[in-house]
Amino acid sequence: MKTGLIGAMREEILLLEHDIENLKIHEIGARKFYEGTINGKEVVMCLSGWGKVAAASTATSLVNLFNVDQLVFIGLAGSLMENLQVGDIVVADQLIQHDVDLSRLDGFPMVKAPFYKKFRFPVRKGAQRRALEAVKQFTYKLHGGEYDGIHQEYNPTIHIGAIGTGDQFIASNKKKEKIVDEYPELFCTEMEGGAIAQVAADYSVPCSVIRIISDNADEDAHDSFARFLFEDISKISVEIARLMFV
Ligand code: ADE
Repeated sequence: MKTGLIGAMREEILLLEHDIENLKIHEIGARKFYEGTINGKEVVMCLSGWGKVAAASTATSLVNLFNVDQLVFIGLAGSLMENLQVGDIVVADQLIQHDVDLSRLDGFPMVKAPFYKKFRFPVRKGAQRRALEAVKQFTYKLHGGEYDGIHQEYNPTIHIGAIGTGDQFIASNKKKEKIVDEYPELFCTEMEGGAIAQVAADYSVPCSVIRIISDNADEDAHDSFARFLFEDISKISVEIARLMFV
């Protein structure tokens, strides 16, 4: 199975470049695609940049130009639930584009694909399982003291649930409440997953999204995000990505 691995920011996945064997780097448009194998498994890794357009463009290239069999996204998200703490990890069972509003078109006759009535994309069970296995392996090794670089007190809880996507960094309680009022099922919010899930649905390939909570999507979100990004994220997300290839 050839995996298209995507991260929005350098810190989230790019260190994995050192693990890729038989590495070939392809420059296509604005992006670099890192193709090779990890533990004998084929991978093409790419940095998407922020937001749904960037994510969709990257995912489409991975499917059409590199023929990947699955898409995997790993990155950070803001918590939308009280019991979801900074550092916790969410594996998506569905992706919802929370900023799409077609309510005024309700009942409008819909045509067939590529149009969607709901911007809600379920994650296939097999893809969920593969992602969850990697995350569980990560916490198992973490508790076994295998990671020197990660803070000793880091003890994340793993959640499986709905992840929201919108083209906004949510950093106020007011904006957060608006999303939660409309979609109380959302665990966290980010800016790419729902777009990758839509491309995956277009092309009928499985996709997994794994998010590590960096902030509470409130007034402190920017500081919390920056702290997390520069201190810990590379070690955590790159390790989880690595474990997708064991
Ligand atoms: N990614 C990490 N934190 C986020 C937030 N608060 N809003 C959107 N995307 C995020």
